[in-house]
Amino acid sequence: MPKLSLKRFKSRRMTLPPESDCARDTSDSPDTDRQRCWYIKPMFDFWQSLLAALERIVMLPSLIHSVFPSLSSRKRTRDAVRSYDRTMDDLLREVQRLFEAPLEPAKLLQMSGRLQEQFAPKLQASNICMLPSYNDKLPTGLEQGTYLALDVGGSTFRVAVVELSGKQAGAKSMRIVTMKSYAINNPVRYLRGTAFFDWMAQKIEAAIVDPQVQRINGTKSFGMGLAWSFPVEQTSIRSGNLLAMGKGFRATEGTLGQDLSELIMAPCRKRNLPVHMESIVNDASATLLSRAYEDPATRFAVILGTGFNIAVHLPTSALATSKYNGYPQKWIDHATHVLVNTELSMFGKNVFPTTRWDDLLNENHVRPDFQPFEHMISGRYLGEIVRLIVVEAVRTAGLFSGELPEKLAEPYSLETGTVAAIEMDESKNFTQAIALFQSKHALSKPPSYKDISFLRQVSQLVSHRAAAYLAAGIHSLWNLRIQSEGLSANEAGRLAIGCNGSVIEKYPHFRELCQTHLDELTIASGAEPHSISLEIAVESAIFGAAVAVCCLDA
Ligand code: BGC
Repeated sequence: MPKLSLKRFKSRRMTLPPESDCARDTSDSPDTDRQRCWYIKPMFDFWQSLLAALERIVMLPSLIHSVFPSLSSRKRTRDAVRSYDRTMDDLLREVQRLFEAPLEPAKLLQMSGRLQEQFAPKLQASNICMLPSYNDKLPTGLEQGTYLALDVGGSTFRVAVVELSGKQAGAKSMRIVTMKSYAINNPVRYLRGTAFFDWMAQKIEAAIVDPQVQRINGTKSFGMGLAWSFPVEQTSIRSGNLLAMGKGFRATEGTLGQDLSELIMAPCRKRNLPVHMESIVNDASATLLSRAYEDPATRFAVILGTGFNIAVHLPTSALATSKYNGYPQKWIDHATHVLVNTELSMFGKNVFPTTRWDDLLNENHVRPDFQPFEHMISGRYLGEIVRLIVVEAVRTAGLFSGELPEKLAEPYSLETGTVAAIEMDESKNFTQAIALFQSKHALSKPPSYKDISFLRQVSQLVSHRAAAYLAAGIHSLWNLRIQSEGLSANEAGRLAIGCNGSVIEKYPHFRELCQTHLDELTIASGAEPHSISLEIAVESAIFGAAVAVCCLDA
């Protein structure tokens, strides 16, 4: 296998200084640090042993804490009398080794192969992943109409009037006429069972009382299309059974297995809302539909934001006939292909090598092992993996001079958006990154250049691994598709992948890195160069919800 020689990959490789004896660098000048270290460390060690000995005197703990009040909060505060297990450079070297070692093309190809082995039984039987829809054909791009599109994401519920006008020279084929966004914060996320659907109906009402919406629809009932960012077991094009939801939602409590359409429509009827459900699709499938509306070469869609998923248009024969139980005979007779919600986030256990920080994240997760792939690559988790490394670095290697900002001790307090912005600061002094970190996680003294440099390199390693694992995941489904189409890699032709979600759209260098790994993997498998292209599909979930309805009308 050729040695990985990616430009970005190389530039991301860190040039770490030779090992230093100094436990903690406090200035930007390594020389000054080294000069200071020789006497500071023994002195610190002396004080630390003395204080530890005093603390061990069980008879007098309260006396010690009253005489030395700082002792009780010693772990949290910037501590001048502390030595560490290792240097930050040592830790960084370890993080680099653990995160980069699996990214060689041969290893990624192996992971792709093992993912395909995991697909096989799920294509035969599973009611939680490799879920077929009732959408057999992709849109032609000529469909037209105006619809009410609903998009329930991990952190926002959006209600929009979407106009589809077909391919017209010089004009946009899809347009959001009006849209309202409602944040899904923790109190909403924790609404149990029907309370969540009541909340949705209340927001639909708030959106459609808008005079602009009233003017569009008059007194007619609005046909609604729903993009649902969770698994759903379709029972028809407009209905589906509610399956387990990730992302911290509790809406399935007491409602699991019930009809999603009815759960939404019942509170809408109670409020006399002039709406009816026309179509339900998973958000990844919606992305595929919306992208295919504009580019007929689209067969895949990737969502990578808070959550992660891939939808694929596959030959119906790729799934066992039992997967179509309950489908009308007419559908079974005429469908050659089917839009499949793979729920790829649920694969990957024992495929992707994990680090101790991944294991810690999984152990403390409300649903350990539910979505192992998502835990390593999605926006909900990238910041958390970095945070776990940071916490270890503060405690064992003296990052931030051993001071852990109070909030950072809380799980999920380091947002992926924050680490992305820190990575984005490529300036000489990291001035913006330092200010941003200090504003989000105040330290008694702002982080040093070295602290931020450590943080940036750790987050680059974490996000680069995510981009490479995503490439392995896409490669595995690309292989599944060409095999089930009976094609060889070089016959597969050009494939466009619609991509949506904050990580793939906005995380610095993420899409480019993923594309580079993907090119390498597909070429190694015998495909023409550039046979897969990752293309951004803006607002695709909301557009796709409308496209799904208009496909019915065609
Ligand atoms: C859900 C999928 C969804 C994806 C992206 C995952 O956590 O299980 O159904 O498509 O997030 O929103």
